[in-house]
Amino acid sequence: MRTIIQNGTLVRSQGIEQADLLIENGFIKRIASGIQEQADEVIDAGGKLVFAGFIDTHTHFDLDLGVTVTADNFITGTRAAALGGTTTVLDFATQDRGMTMQDALDLWHKKAEGSSCNYGFHMAISEWDGERAAEVENMVAQGVTSFKMYMVYDAMRLNDGEIYAALKHMAALNCISGVHCENYDILNERIHELNSIGMRSPLAHPISRPNAVEAEAVSRLMRIGQLAKAPVWVVHLSTHEGLEEARRARARGQEVYLETCPQYLVLDDTRYGDPDAEKFIMSPPLRKSEDQDALLSAMGSGEIDVIGTDHCSFMMSQKALGGGEFSKTPNGGAGVQNRAQIIYTYAVRTGRITLQQMAAMMSENAARMFGMYPHRGVLREGAEADITIYDPTGESKISYRTNAHACDNSPYEGMKVLGGVSDVLLGGQHIVKNGKLITEGKGRFVFRKSSGRYRA
Ligand code: URP
Ligand code: ZN
Repeated sequence: MRTIIQNGTLVRSQGIEQADLLIENGFIKRIASGIQEQADEVIDAGGKLVFAGFIDTHTHFDLDLGVTVTADNFITGTRAAALGGTTTVLDFATQDRGMTMQDALDLWHKKAEGSSCNYGFHMAISEWDGERAAEVENMVAQGVTSFKMYMVYDAMRLNDGEIYAALKHMAALNCISGVHCENYDILNERIHELNSIGMRSPLAHPISRPNAVEAEAVSRLMRIGQLAKAPVWVVHLSTHEGLEEARRARARGQEVYLETCPQYLVLDDTRYGDPDAEKFIMSPPLRKSEDQDALLSAMGSGEIDVIGTDHCSFMMSQKALGGGEFSKTPNGGAGVQNRAQIIYTYAVRTGRITLQQMAAMMSENAARMFGMYPHRGVLREGAEADITIYDPTGESKISYRTNAHACDNSPYEGMKVLGGVSDVLLGGQHIVKNGKLITEGKGRFVFRKSSGRYRA
């Protein structure tokens, strides 16, 4: 099977170029201008931007929180991802207490069958002891080379000593570990304080977890990483103060990777006064415009590595299980389909980042950081033909009604976006054509090598 993508503008972290792509049997065979060869399909990308397929570093599909299960499973979640230009999602396989990592990995492989884009797994761990430690090498042997720990959530959290030991162990095996940074004791005490004065509505959610709750935890993680001599990845960074703590650690010579999410760039905490405010209950919470500005500046200066969505969707009826109380409302929001449009509209077109930086944060850095480079994440001869074509023309509004995800709400409802994904190729197969998903269920597991550790 041979496909030619003609007349497009190739966007790579190193630069922008007008060139054609010849794709053969799933790989990029040639990049040159004016390719004239026989092909089974010719895609005209005139006026469009051609990127290496986007990688979403942070999704939660089919996640059982105990009280309820996310609205999106891998079938619906990866359909939405593909339509949004994402060719690989890295989802969090979750080792619940009493389970082995192998149990969790086997379960996630089953859950992910029938996915419409490629998928890999980070392993989220909820306990750390000799038994779990002994499993890490086995995870690496199965292509799982990144791990996540939570400082919060009763069912998942590890203490600082456990995080220290796990970071050290993972680093020795050349794995990378992400940590959800919030101070558990303080946020719980603040929830208690707020409840005792009758503040239970969503408006109290950001008050329970103010910026310092994240910043203290980031600062602590930085010091734990320093002591463990390990790289650390801060997942879903949301605050200016947290960013400052990471900057300090980098200035000391530490290897720190930063992920943020579109919601922390374009939505703010005034949304907790909205009639459907429950849909914005996520952790960390939405912040203020100063935080958005600081994160966008850090993207522009190359300090942010990757942008994940933290897609963790719930129907409004599931959000209502909290009975209107912020601290009991399932945490998380939808976003997997809208990442590229939001970043293109609110970061590139506003002049905060370049197209090349968009390519780096949406594809290349993720591929490097998570052991997929140079086979994925770059437009390069010999790489897998996972390709996203973005049409920058036109204007539309985001709505859950037109998104493919299963949940009946979007935190971005009504938000204006410029352009959209027109075509996606997955391993050379044309799966999204003119904005429509034409082939489903072709996603494969991505076996990952050790982290590229490009900030070492
Ligand atoms: O509120 C969120 N982000 N829910 C998903 C789990 C997590 O904390 O990443
Ligand atoms: Zn998450």
